[in-house]
Amino acid sequence: MKKHRAFLKFPFLLLLLCLLKFSKADSDGEASAMLSLKKSLNPPSSFGWSDPDPCKWTHVVCTGTKRVTRIQIGHSGLQGTLSPDIRSLTELERLELQWNNISGPIPTLSGLSSLQVLMLSNNHFDSIPSDIFQGLTSLQSVDVDNNPFASWEIPESLRNASALQNFSANSANVSGTLPGFLGPDEFPGLSILHLAFNNLEGELPLGLSGSQIQSLWLNGQKLTGSIDVLRNMTGLREVWLHSNAFSGPLPDFSGLQELESLSLRDNSFTGPVPASLMSLDSLRAVNLTNNHLQGPVPEFKASVSVDLEKDTNGFCLPAPGECDPRVKSLLSIASSVEYPLRLAESWIGNDPCTNWIGITCSNGNVTVINLEKMGLTGTISPEFGSIKSLQRIILGINNLTGTIPHELTTLPNLKTLDVSSNHLFGKVPAFKSNVVVNTNGNPDIGKDKSSLSPPGSSSPSGGGSGSGLSDGRVKTSSGVEYLHGLAHQSFIHRDLKPSNILLGDDMRAKVADFGLVRLAPEGKGSIETRIAGTFGYLAPEYAVTGRVTTKVDVYSFGVILMELITGRKSLDESQPEESIHLVSWFKRMFINKESSFKKAIDPTIDLDEETLASVHTVAELAGHCCAREPYQRPDMGHAVNILSSLVELWKPADQNPEDIYGIDLDMSLPQALKKWQAYEGRSDLESSTSSLLPSLGNTQMSIPSRPYGFAESFTSVDGR
Ligand SMILES: *[C@@H]1O[C@H](CO)[C@@H](O)[C@H](O)[C@H]1NC(C)=O
Ligand SMILES: *[C@@H]1O[C@H](CO)[C@@H](O)[C@H](O)[C@H]1NC(C)=O
Ligand SMILES: *[C@@H]1O[C@H](CO)[C@@H](O)[C@H](O)[C@H]1NC(C)=O
Ligand SMILES: *[C@@H]1O[C@H](CO)[C@@H](O)[C@H](O)[C@H]1NC(C)=O
Ligand SMILES: *[C@@H]1O[C@H](CO)[C@@H](O)[C@H](O)[C@H]1NC(C)=O
Ligand SMILES: *[C@@H]1O[C@H](CO)[C@@H](O)[C@H](O)[C@H]1NC(C)=O
Ligand SMILES: *[C@@H]1O[C@H](CO)[C@@H](O)[C@H](O)[C@H]1NC(C)=O
Ligand SMILES: *[C@@H]1O[C@H](CO)[C@@H](O)[C@H](O)[C@H]1NC(C)=O
Repeated sequence: MKKHRAFLKFPFLLLLLCLLKFSKADSDGEASAMLSLKKSLNPPSSFGWSDPDPCKWTHVVCTGTKRVTRIQIGHSGLQGTLSPDIRSLTELERLELQWNNISGPIPTLSGLSSLQVLMLSNNHFDSIPSDIFQGLTSLQSVDVDNNPFASWEIPESLRNASALQNFSANSANVSGTLPGFLGPDEFPGLSILHLAFNNLEGELPLGLSGSQIQSLWLNGQKLTGSIDVLRNMTGLREVWLHSNAFSGPLPDFSGLQELESLSLRDNSFTGPVPASLMSLDSLRAVNLTNNHLQGPVPEFKASVSVDLEKDTNGFCLPAPGECDPRVKSLLSIASSVEYPLRLAESWIGNDPCTNWIGITCSNGNVTVINLEKMGLTGTISPEFGSIKSLQRIILGINNLTGTIPHELTTLPNLKTLDVSSNHLFGKVPAFKSNVVVNTNGNPDIGKDKSSLSPPGSSSPSGGGSGSGLSDGRVKTSSGVEYLHGLAHQSFIHRDLKPSNILLGDDMRAKVADFGLVRLAPEGKGSIETRIAGTFGYLAPEYAVTGRVTTKVDVYSFGVILMELITGRKSLDESQPEESIHLVSWFKRMFINKESSFKKAIDPTIDLDEETLASVHTVAELAGHCCAREPYQRPDMGHAVNILSSLVELWKPADQNPEDIYGIDLDMSLPQALKKWQAYEGRSDLESSTSSLLPSLGNTQMSIPSRPYGFAESFTSVDGR
């Protein structure tokens, strides 16, 4: 896609103003959608939805231009259905219908790009369409708990909602597997993931590694496999996995320093409770009842409330205390093969000579360990060498890797070692001549290396990679507003000006030239930088102090709006001295009388009453954005709201992938930045003294820009 640098020209402005005229027609369309909504929901007359103007209805909020932004009718005893015309309310930000008895299908909400909050829980909706989240790029919170849906899977369309913070669908008949795309690459802000009491199956996807999810509810279904990925989910506070079929040992919890509540009861976990869990200071409640946990009974701090019914696990003693040395040795052997369930079901208590599977004793001494054909994966523990009474070790026909530990040669009574049909490699250590050693069926035995990939390198289920640089393709987002607010970390563009707004062939605007982007400080602080940017667009505090906040871009944006309205450049040397600086001149003209304001408007604009009103709104916003003090300026989100109420629905541009330094346009900005950093061999943007990213100059990196929605929507005007 070729892009042109677009300077302000009058056709540009003309198109903008054509657009403003369409807003009347849009609000009429909204009124008819609201009437269908009323008809389908059939509220009682006491509800107060009788005025012909829906903006006057109770629990409905509109913009100044009569576009509906909120419908908040939860807990209202409504009985009807939800009209598909809801889709016409393109400025809708909040849809709250929770705790009613609305039935029928949830219609698609596809394209409601302003929708932030969707609350549909506790109704009688019977289906949910798979394209429901298509284009819902502003979505932050979804709650569809407790609806009698036909079976559905978490749809691919959710990937469009990358600003998502909360996703709750408990008791909602969700089936299929937990998608790996819910991980940090695509959903960096996901904080709540509640999917309890559904029909999910399969394993926790490795794609969740690195996620900062705080609350994870997956209890009450058919999930299986290991929960090792939790180890890398360091934001977790609340983890409810009870009543599933998870198995394997508990992971290392030392990275989960915020963990308060961990419910693992009613699963098939094996192995001992790790010390890293018992030592967590944050922990308040833990549920371990009814698993196959082994080793000593865990001892938690007094501040932890522990759900651990007696005899519902395989601990060695009924109370905390060290296990018998034979039990300890056998558990280390089990540890090196990941505590298989089959062993854990049988290796219970403190005496291995009481019928433990695979164990034979003589006078209380373990003489035979026979774990043939048990589907073991893992390695042979050197701990075998500490069970001096052993006479026979039989580990044939498994999937053991690694080498035969030399400790085994020290066993004084050993007669037989059978490790046939595994994947062992390396030199066979020197056993005494009376020991029969069977290594048949290990293709790499005697070789230095295994021809297999190292253990653990295979991933049990798909879905993304670990944290860090990855090949996960991410949708682009919600331009400048995204830069400031929605991104997990904030960025400041610092050089926003018309020549950095690119128009594609399709006349959609993009924000370009991220050469000066830098990470915004956490919170509302500011950062000191070397001055960069373009005169005429620089906020005064930036020019004077070199300190930037996100409000620097808001100022530049205001200047651009002023240029649009007046048709003048930000610095116009052809003007008399007092009018060279657009911002000062504009403010003077605007605060003066109506007549002088009209004079300031680009003379090529045909001003009828309606257009004048719209220009007024934009002018007011421009003045606000260029306020002297940064704190007096609005957020970019506010600017977007005002402008979007005047224009057509924003539609994201087609994203033809273009590859620059391995960056493609489908990436989120944080990802693209990571790529740049990697490309430049920089790891820490904040600490680099020059604090400037490599300028991309005239490269064509661009992202769809929401603030410039008015420009983007030119296409839709052209199309009419
Ligand atoms: C809710 O609607 C369903 C189906 O329309 C109906 O069977 C049920 O009785 C209603 N419940 C209440 C509390 O009105
Ligand atoms: C997400 O859920 C939390 C906890 O219920 C709530 O405080 C927060 O407001 C929700 N976020 C949004 C965007 O609704
Ligand atoms: C879940 O969906 C299946 C298939 O659509 C349906 O048969 C079943 O009744 C649903 N379960 C519940 C609890 O609604
Ligand atoms: C939304 O998702 C679809 C695939 O489900 C994808 O083709 C489209 O590009 C996405 N749109 C945005 C804005 O991310
Ligand atoms: C945890 O993260 C580390 C480092 O990113 C990675 O090597 C490892 O595979 C991850 N483990 C799991 C279980 O996701
Ligand atoms: C988990 O344990 C806590 C503390 O004992 C208890 O309050 C809670 O009800 C338990 N949860 C379940 C699901 O049993
Ligand atoms: C070894 O592992 C593979 C892959 O999981 C499995 O198909 C095979 O049955 C295993 N072999 C044995 C002997 O357990
Ligand atoms: C075997 O058991 C007896 C008594 O239980 C003990 O004295 C002896 O040391 C044990 N032998 C070995 C080799 O462990």
